[in-house]
Amino acid sequence: MTHAEDLRTTGPSRRTVLGTAGLAGLGAAALAGCGSGQDAAGVAGSASDAVAGAVKDAISKTSIPVGGGKVFADAKVVVTQPTSGDFKAFSAVCTHQACVVSDVAGGTINCACHGSKYDITTGAVKNGPATAPLPEKKVSVSGDGIKVT
Ligand code: FES
Repeated sequence: MTHAEDLRTTGPSRRTVLGTAGLAGLGAAALAGCGSGQDAAGVAGSASDAVAGAVKDAISKTSIPVGGGKVFADAKVVVTQPTSGDFKAFSAVCTHQACVVSDVAGGTINCACHGSKYDITTGAVKNGPATAPLPEKKVSVSGDGIKVT
């Protein structure tokens, strides 16, 4: 009887020890997981800030041709200058099947995927198969730079 009691006593306490060790291990793993998650989020945030900064820096008034424009594929933005000093910006995601538009030429924003063309002043469809205009974005001009939000 004494021996059995000993087994019963030691049995649960061993499980408790193991259980505690297991929980501690999980806790450490969970903490490590949280840490990695935060790091990843931080990196993602920095990367997106860097992209926004790069686009902001890259858009100088002189880089946008009058009567034309420029596609910033990474930021999915197209900036145009229909007439001198008048800047417009649109989403560069084609409203047909979501390709990023390829270029601005011949007075239109052009999607190479299926040939849609959009007006550089309004974003309206000039040539299908797209049927919806490119959504316009807000442009602020300051000094030599152009910021799109
Ligand atoms: Fe642009 Fe089809 S995705 S024309």
